[in-house]
Amino acid sequence: MSKYITTPIYYVNGEAHIGHAYTTFIADTMTRYEKLKGENTYFLTGTDEHGQKIEESAQKNGKPTQEFADEISASFKNLWDEFEINYDKFIRTTDEDHKKGVQKAFEVMHAKGDIYKDFYEGHYCVSCETFFPETQLIDGEYCPDCGRSTSVVKEESYFFRLSKYEDALLKHYSDNPNFILPRSRANEVINFVKGGLRDLSVTRTSFTWGVKMPESMHDDKHVMYVWLDALLNYITALGYGKDNANMRYWPASTQFVGKDILRFHAIYWPAFLMSLDLPLPKRIGAHGWWTRDGEKMSKSKGNVIAPKEVADVYGVENLRYFMLREVPFGQDGDFSQRAFIDRINSELSNDLGNLLNRIIGMSGKYSEYEIDSVDVEKFHKKEIDAMNIILDSLDSYMENLQTHRYLEELWKLFSIGNKAIEEHAPWVKMKEDKKDEALATVALVANILAKASIMLSPVMPKTTNIVADALNFTIDNSSYKELILDKKLLKLFNIKVVPPLFPRVDEPLMPEAPAAEPNKQEDDKKEVTVAAKEEDNLIEIGQFFETSLKVGVVIEAEEVPKSKTLLKLQVDLGNGVIKQVLAGIREFYSAESLLNTQVCVVANLKPAKLMGMVSEGMLLAAKDEDGLCLIRPEKPKKAGTPIG
Ligand code: MSP
Repeated sequence: MSKYITTPIYYVNGEAHIGHAYTTFIADTMTRYEKLKGENTYFLTGTDEHGQKIEESAQKNGKPTQEFADEISASFKNLWDEFEINYDKFIRTTDEDHKKGVQKAFEVMHAKGDIYKDFYEGHYCVSCETFFPETQLIDGEYCPDCGRSTSVVKEESYFFRLSKYEDALLKHYSDNPNFILPRSRANEVINFVKGGLRDLSVTRTSFTWGVKMPESMHDDKHVMYVWLDALLNYITALGYGKDNANMRYWPASTQFVGKDILRFHAIYWPAFLMSLDLPLPKRIGAHGWWTRDGEKMSKSKGNVIAPKEVADVYGVENLRYFMLREVPFGQDGDFSQRAFIDRINSELSNDLGNLLNRIIGMSGKYSEYEIDSVDVEKFHKKEIDAMNIILDSLDSYMENLQTHRYLEELWKLFSIGNKAIEEHAPWVKMKEDKKDEALATVALVANILAKASIMLSPVMPKTTNIVADALNFTIDNSSYKELILDKKLLKLFNIKVVPPLFPRVDEPLMPEAPAAEPNKQEDDKKEVTVAAKEEDNLIEIGQFFETSLKVGVVIEAEEVPKSKTLLKLQVDLGNGVIKQVLAGIREFYSAESLLNTQVCVVANLKPAKLMGMVSEGMLLAAKDEDGLCLIRPEKPKKAGTPIG
C-alpha cells in the first residue's frame, strides 16, 4: 500500500515563518519515516496563490499579482530546498494543470447537482478568506476567527450544497474515530456540523484573481472561491482532471494542517470529495500554533521568527529536533531560545554527541577503532533486552504523530548506553585484563548508537548520516530491516573519527524578541463561570439532581484569541466523552497550568456559542474580591465521577 502525505499550501502574502516550517518538518519527517520502512510514499507541498488577500498584498507591494506570487512562491520553494525537504511535488495553484483540474471538479460537482446559482449576502473576512453569517461576528462586525474587520458582500454566487452532506459527514466521523487527530479536536468539528451546515458560496464576482469558471458554464463573471481552488490541490497534484497519473496515491494517508484550518479540511474538503465520488483522506492531523516567548507572533509586533534565521545560526536539523520534541502533536508550542539551547546542550550535545565521542575515544584506545559485537549478548543481555523493548515501542508513537513521545523514548536508548559505560567501566576492565568485556561494552554502545540513528534519521537525516558514517554503515531500508526489525547487531567494522556533532551553545545566538506590548484590545464581555449568587428560593433535592455535576480532567487548554477572559478547554468526562468548555478564567489561570488537572463540570448544560465557538459545559468556581479559584476534588478522582 502506498502513502500520500500533504502539508497545507501556504499563502503567498508573506515569507515563511516557523509555523509553516513546523508543518513542513512534521510532514517531511513522516515521509522519511515511511520511506525508511520501505513504503512507497508521495509527499506534496506548495503555495496557495489566488484570492482577494493575495491580490491586495500584491497591490500594497506595488507589484503585478502574478509577479508577486511568483516571488513569494519561489521563496518558499527555495527555503524548503535549502532545508532539504524531501517533497515529491511543489504545487502552485497558478499552475495551468491545477486550474484545469479545479474546473473539471467544478463541472463534476455541477453535473452531480451539487452546484446552484443564487445570491450571496453576508460578511467576508479577507484575511481568513471566509464567509460568516452575522450571528457569528463579534460585535456584529469582527471576524470570529482572527478578529479583523469583515466587509459586507452582496453578489451573485454559485453555491455548493454543503448542507446535503451533513449526515454523511457525521456518519464518517463516527465510523472513523481516527479521521481527525488529535481526537479531542474531532469534537469541535462534530459540534460545528451538528450546529447545521449552510451551503457554501464557491464563486466570487467582485474580483478576478482566481481560477476562471469552466467554459461549459458560460459565465465568465465568476472566479472560484479560493478555498475550493486550494483544497482541490491535493488531487490536482496527482493529475486529477488531466491524466490521473498519480491518482493511485489517493486517498491521502495523512493531511497535516494547523488547527485554524481544520474546519476547511475536516468539513468542506470531505464534502467536496463525496461530491466527486472520491474516497476521503485516511486522517487529518491538526497541529497547534507556535508562539514566541509566550507571545503570539505577528508582523505588527515584529516578533515573527523566520525559519532561515534560526537555521542559519542553530542548524536546521537542531530546529527540526527541537520543534518535534518540544510539543505534543496538536498542542500549542512556544519557541524560546532558552528552551531550544537547553535541548541542544543537554539532549543533543550531552546525551547523543558525547556518547558518540566516548565510543570513538574508547574504541581508538582499546582496539584501534575496531568494533566487534561478538561478545555483546554475553555481557549485556539486560541492556539488549531493554533496548529492544524501546525500539519495538517507537513505531506506534510515530504512526500516531506523537513525535515528542517518539523522541523521548528514543532518548532512553542513550541513557542505557551511558549507564552501561558507567556500570561496566571499560577502562577498569582494561586494567583488570578483561579486554573482551571492555570491548563488549564499547560494541554495545556502538550498536545502540547505530540503531538510534536509524530511528532518528527521519528527524535529523544529515546528522544521523554522519553517525552512520562514523559507524561504517548506511541508513536505509535494508539496515532498518536488519538492525531494527530483525534486531541484528553490527558486524565487525572500523570506526571513523568524526568531529563533535553538536557544539555546546552558551549564549542566545539570535537577538531576543522585542518586548511585548500590552494587549489594548477591548475584551469580550461574556464569561462562562458559575458566579456565586445568593439564593432565596429553596429548591427540592430533585431539582438539584437535574444538574449533572462531574469530575473532569482538562486534556487541552488554550487561550481564545481576542479575549482576555476566555480559555478554551477540552475536558475529559470519562467513557470517551470529551466536552469543550469556554471558561472565563484566563485572568486567574494560564492555559498550561490547567493541563491535566481536575475540575468540576456542569455536564448537562445545553451547548451555547461564544465568539463563534461552542461551549458545552461550565466549570465550578468561587470568586470573591481576592479573585477566582476553581472548585476541584480534594483527592484525584476518575474522569466522569459524579458529584453530588
Ligand atoms: N492557504 C491556506 C491553506 C490552504 S490548504 C488547502 C493557509 N495558508 S497559511 O499560509 O495562512 O497557513 C498555512 C499553515 O500555517 C496553516 O496550517 C496554519 O495553521 C499554519 N500556521 C500559521 N501560523 C502558525 C503558527 N504561528 N504556528 C503554527 N502554525 C501556524 O491557511
